[in-house]
Amino acid sequence: MERRDLLIVDDDWQVREVLHEIFLSSGYNCHLAQDGREALEVFRAARPPLVVTDLKMPNMDGIQLLHAILAEEGDTAVVILTGAADVKTAIDSLKLGAYDFIMKPVNVDELVIAAERALERRNLLIERRQYQAYLELRVEEATRDLQAAYQQLQDTYRATLEALGSALDTRDIGTESHSRRVHGYSLATAREYGVPEEQLSDVAHGVLLHDIGKIGIPDAILLKPGPLTPEEWTVMRRHPEIGKRLIERIPFLRGAVPVVYHHHERWDGSGYPLGLKGEEIPLGARIFSVVDAFDAMTFDRPYSKAIPIDAAKGEIRRCSGSHFDPLVAEAFFRVPEPLLAEIRRKSIEP
Ligand SMILES: [Fe+2]
Repeated sequence: MERRDLLIVDDDWQVREVLHEIFLSSGYNCHLAQDGREALEVFRAARPPLVVTDLKMPNMDGIQLLHAILAEEGDTAVVILTGAADVKTAIDSLKLGAYDFIMKPVNVDELVIAAERALERRNLLIERRQYQAYLELRVEEATRDLQAAYQQLQDTYRATLEALGSALDTRDIGTESHSRRVHGYSLATAREYGVPEEQLSDVAHGVLLHDIGKIGIPDAILLKPGPLTPEEWTVMRRHPEIGKRLIERIPFLRGAVPVVYHHHERWDGSGYPLGLKGEEIPLGARIFSVVDAFDAMTFDRPYSKAIPIDAAKGEIRRCSGSHFDPLVAEAFFRVPEPLLAEIRRKSIEP
């Protein structure tokens, strides 16, 4: 239990003595002062939780003392003693932070009860504040845990998608590094284009999964060494539609649908599945189209040899406005060479 220290402040020594007697017999450890200035010194030394003070005193009056004490220790319970003439000042003191006021001449029971009540209220306020702080801390901890769990979930999703993207690549073009590079190029291009950070994950997911619909294409067509017949092309061109149907029911991947479904559209409307034109084609798909072509040209594939980076960029420039969105192509050209090189280097790390 807290030590029931009490500071009694009154310039009338007889009042001081009477109060001293009353509080001593009620179990308080009393400190005495004869004016505000002395009271402040005693207060600083003893730090009592409770102060009972007169209003009118020389050197420093009760209101000044109240201000000074609350400035030093805001939780102090200050009870004002007042004569009938100063009732208005006493009421004002409540607004300034005093806990209570008692009329002189004092009634012993009333005084002790007021003191007890002030201390109780003070303890309650402190407890409530501590509880509040405890709650805030718990909320903070829970939020942190939740964020960590969410981050872990996101990481798991991403790793799963990357694995799936690599598996698709391996089956299709014989290398798993393609999806990593196209993923890296897409994000870099999207940033140069000005796509907001919070929309990048949709683009990234779409890029990683763009050919997921090829799961539904028979191996005889997908892995056929020679050129496809017109009938086989018709089947092959169904892969964006199949991909869309595969992922559109997964809430986490819904944002990836536009890239998956439209990744073979062309700026001039000559692509598939819908033959969309210009900005009708979702931006993620327009970005994918540029970086996929760049990667196809700059890395060896089973049936085509890589060409130099500058030549590939020249080819993209040539097809800008027909195959490719000119603004997306410009954004891709703005991606710094060292960043492109870094993405290429990382893509072939084991
Ligand atoms: Fe495709």
